[in-house]
Amino acid sequence: MKKVSIIGAGNTGATAAHWLAERELADVVLVDVVEGMPQGKSLDMAQAMPIIGKDVKILGTNNYADTKDSDIIIITAGVARKPGMSRDDLLKINAEIVGTAATETLKYSPNAFYIVLTNPLDTMAYLTMKKTGLPRERVIGQAGILDSARMRAFVAMETGVSVENIQCYVLGGHGDEMVPLTRHSNIAGIPLNEYLAADKLEAIVNRTRKGGGEIVNLLKTGSAFYAPSLACVQMAEAILKDKKLIVPCAAYMNGEYGLNDMYFGVPVVLGAGGIEKIIEYKFNDAEKANFEKSAASVKETHEALKSLVTL
Ligand code: APR
Repeated sequence: MKKVSIIGAGNTGATAAHWLAERELADVVLVDVVEGMPQGKSLDMAQAMPIIGKDVKILGTNNYADTKDSDIIIITAGVARKPGMSRDDLLKINAEIVGTAATETLKYSPNAFYIVLTNPLDTMAYLTMKKTGLPRERVIGQAGILDSARMRAFVAMETGVSVENIQCYVLGGHGDEMVPLTRHSNIAGIPLNEYLAADKLEAIVNRTRKGGGEIVNLLKTGSAFYAPSLACVQMAEAILKDKKLIVPCAAYMNGEYGLNDMYFGVPVVLGAGGIEKIIEYKFNDAEKANFEKSAASVKETHEALKSLVTL
């Protein structure tokens, strides 16, 4: 059985463990700083396995040594922004948490692939790559699958068509400047901008861009976790099963799309080698302008990180 360790056993971490176990994709280790909590959640989940007949081991721990020989490490550990905390304060705190999670796990699993979920996502993936010194194939940020799934869900709600017929592609940074591609998205092969009236499509694009915030406003005490955690699990599955799945992920840019030394959401081929290829779409001028605007915003957060911590 393969082994996936999840750092941060909060909402997204524990739910990712749940999806992984339920699909019998790997043995799971849940790590958190809070004593007892990962142990309790893991024991509870392990007790659900006989009911669905899945033979996976689920371990909760406060000790990184238990992550030894993981095939994949998923990093969800972090804190949410609290009143009075600036963006830079949050960046610094999460950079410390993610940096430690990355370097500690690498000691025990030198061959692991990393999937990063902690926000600000693109910048935390950048930090993980710099801190571990791993090649870009092995450090991947989750965002595009989630943002695209949100857009697909909104299109399904608007049209009543099965989600299975709806393909959407959202690229760029994981923030309000993300780039939903309406020309490349389609319903059963029909481009979205032909299927839907312009005003309806615009409303869906705007709702997608603010998809995370909409849920925070409703939950009040936390952020989305069902879809974000399942997005991570789809990435893990593609790597574990060598699927060669094309999905939008945050990847290190080395000249692709004219971008350098930054993480950004682009379509990648995910397989046993991690990011096996980066796919370059052909953009028109309007798409290119949106893409560049989003890149500038991500680059700004990368620069803020560099001014706060030593990489
Ligand atoms: N090591 C391990 N775990 C830690 C550490 C640390 N140093 N610091 C905090 N944690 C744990 C917390 O104890 C908590 O259980 O990380 C967990 C975070 O869980 P939640 O607060 O429930 O947050 P969650 O909704 O899971 O989101 C986590 O993912 O989607 C992003 O924006 C989101 O950055 C956030 C992250």
